[in-house]
Amino acid sequence: MATAASAYFPHLILPKGVIKEGLYSVLRDAILDGRLASGTKLPSSRVLAEMMSISRNSVLAAMDRLLDEGYVVTKPSSGTYVAELIPDQLISIPEIATKSASDICHKLNINPHIANLLPAWQKQNVSGQGEKIFHVGVGCTDLFPHSLWGKLLGRAWRQSHQQLGQFHDCRGYLPLRQAICDYVRSTRGLKCDVQQILIVNGTQQAIHLAAYALLQPLDQICLDEPGYDAALNIFRSFGIQVHPVSSDHEGMKIAEIIQHYSKSKLIYTAPSHQFPLGGTLSLSRRLALLEWAASQQKWIFEDDYNSEFRYGTHPIQALQGLDQQQRVIYSGTFSKMMFPEFRLGFMVVPESLIEILSLAKYYTDTRSAYLEQAALALFIKEGHYARHVRKVRKACQERQQALIAAIQQFLADVLTVQPTDSGIHVICWLKAPWTEQSFIDQCLAINLAVQPLSRYCQQPYEKAAVLFGYAAHTPDEINMNIQKLAQQIKPT
Ligand SMILES: Cc1ncc(COP(=O)(O)O)c(C=O)c1O
Repeated sequence: MATAASAYFPHLILPKGVIKEGLYSVLRDAILDGRLASGTKLPSSRVLAEMMSISRNSVLAAMDRLLDEGYVVTKPSSGTYVAELIPDQLISIPEIATKSASDICHKLNINPHIANLLPAWQKQNVSGQGEKIFHVGVGCTDLFPHSLWGKLLGRAWRQSHQQLGQFHDCRGYLPLRQAICDYVRSTRGLKCDVQQILIVNGTQQAIHLAAYALLQPLDQICLDEPGYDAALNIFRSFGIQVHPVSSDHEGMKIAEIIQHYSKSKLIYTAPSHQFPLGGTLSLSRRLALLEWAASQQKWIFEDDYNSEFRYGTHPIQALQGLDQQQRVIYSGTFSKMMFPEFRLGFMVVPESLIEILSLAKYYTDTRSAYLEQAALALFIKEGHYARHVRKVRKACQERQQALIAAIQQFLADVLTVQPTDSGIHVICWLKAPWTEQSFIDQCLAINLAVQPLSRYCQQPYEKAAVLFGYAAHTPDEINMNIQKLAQQIKPT
């Protein structure tokens, strides 16, 4: 009978040859590549012999060698465990990380454009593990009406009998598309009808579909600098050349695009809340961009991810609403107002692109999942969404004020905080002698997910800065964590 430990034992295949050598190698490899993690209890020699259909003496010989070399340890009356400390240089993950993208691409025979993203991804993954506080990009998840949402999901499910056997439109569930259409026309000043609404799995899928449907390798596009790293990486994964375009007090420098990057087929920008600096594109630049795009047949991808998080001032009309010539592909998301794991968003697409973008969606994942679309349609139509937006706006403003006050009180020697009237994060400029790396390392050590500005830059930025997300924490939590940070950090 299998023991609890052997039930989780990875499936290992013995190579041909001397059995004890083979077993030693497969166990060692499994330890080095992480399939057998440090501290894992190994099955007994009797169980292992049975599992692998080999003699118990071969198992004992392999185990002795692993023990001698320090890969496993024995604990009296308990058994054999993978050692806690495996020499770092032997573990294969750093080996991959230090290999160049072209080495990896050659070795694995994979798409070179995606391989180019590996170094940045590995860095991001390492710093993104397990942190909870000050995450950039997380909304007020604590205020989300969980039980109401559960009831709406239940209602949608009970009403779903008729729906489940049908193939829905790949553009999404019609009542949701209609609810979104009405909502964005009244709150964001969009000009659209329901035919132009395409439900997607968040902004990232919207960017992906735009790249898939409109661009090809070596095409040129422009993107905010600093800008949304996911957008940059998605475009790059299609082999597209991305020109960085910086901003000043009027937002993205449109004249720079027209002068230097006129071959660009698409301009990606977040005009109502530039990510990550938070500026707004001025009306004169909005009009200049639209006029150029119309006269040169360019596409504009408007990422309106943060438009509902605006405090004190009225929401600014979306660029799409000013577009007379249907050059703007508009993208909205629910992952900020609801919660990050809520993977629904929408596109409002020019009439001429409805067919091609629907096709792109269809051949990506056929359509987005039915149940959450149906519950969201009820959530919006019955007024819960608008109520939630009002609640979140009020709370976010208080949370931002709490963060700014705490930083000014406890970290004034380290950071200059830049107040903003929108969004869910603030930018803080680092004072000398701090570097982004030294600050971020110390934040990570106490579980703070503060991000360096350089993460969002294609080119070195003139000043060092860090981003604090504040929306997911109460004023007390914010204050406590900033105090804790102030007590712990030291310039290095
Ligand atoms: C600039 C920008 N756009 C969009 C999003 C949202 O992406 P999604 O809808 O895929 O969650 C984010 C998330 O952090 C973002 O920073």
